[in-house]
Amino acid sequence: MNKVVVVTGVGRGLGFAVAKKHLQQNDVVYGLEFQITGELKKVESENPNLHVSQCDLGDDESVKKAVQNLLASEKKVDIIYSVAGIFAYHDDKGLARTDSETCIKNYNVNTLGTLRLGREIWPLIGKGALVVIISSEAGSIGATRRKAEYAYCMSKAAVNMLGKLLSNELWEKEARVVMFHPGWLRTQMGGDRAKQSSNSIEPEQSAEDIVNIALNIDKYPGDQLYMTHKGDILPW
Ligand SMILES: NC(=O)c1ccc[n+]([C@@H]2O[C@H](COP(=O)([O-])OP(=O)(O)OC[C@H]3O[C@@H](n4cnc5c(N)ncnc54)[C@H](OP(=O)(O)O)[C@@H]3O)[C@@H](O)[C@H]2O)c1
Repeated sequence: MNKVVVVTGVGRGLGFAVAKKHLQQNDVVYGLEFQITGELKKVESENPNLHVSQCDLGDDESVKKAVQNLLASEKKVDIIYSVAGIFAYHDDKGLARTDSETCIKNYNVNTLGTLRLGREIWPLIGKGALVVIISSEAGSIGATRRKAEYAYCMSKAAVNMLGKLLSNELWEKEARVVMFHPGWLRTQMGGDRAKQSSNSIEPEQSAEDIVNIALNIDKYPGDQLYMTHKGDILPW
């Protein structure tokens, strides 16, 4: 049966690729985007199953309004993909040059953005629903060897905790959460280095892997929450 799917960051990068995968199988996709470009409007006009709304995930009221408008006619959602995120390129200098403002911005979008989204969609999350949070290996406290990118890494470690708490809470509703490191992506966030590297992957490849796991989540034990796009478990 066709699914009802919500995707943040639907305008480009991984979010766009995830939305495309679901549109290809005739699912209904509700997309949230910070800046709706002419290109995204065109894609929406060509796809009757795609409905897009402007939304700043960093703002309570904006998320509330966007979710209420966009999902007004739905009684439940099947999969929610929290994909949107930010990264600051100047966040690569180590503690002495890490500014609080960048940390607050990263936390506000990367962590609280997912919290706001889940809070507003809460009444539509029922039995069998799946919340997919695009985290990063940067959020793994156990595995990290980094000495910089405090703002980004801390925001991703925090969203992992959000995902675990949400998973505990949703257990009673028989709904699930899964968090992914999507790989190093050839997107705007990945930047020129990713575009030139053979260790990076196209967002379409990552989206294919992630959507495939999401659609087959019953094959994965319920306590497997944090994994790569290939399904390899990551340490918290
Ligand atoms: N790229 C990588 O190598 C990599 C690695 C690990 C994890 N990740 C994670 O994967 C996810 C997708 O990354 P990506 O590479 O696809 O990034 P991207 O190409 O930079 O796209 C980011 C998306 O987030 C949206 N966004 C940013 N701030 C927002 C806000 N305040 N409200 C609503 N939407 C907002 C952007 O909207 P606008 O276009 O309107 O600005 C855009 O659609 C992110 O969570 C990222 O942290 C990425």
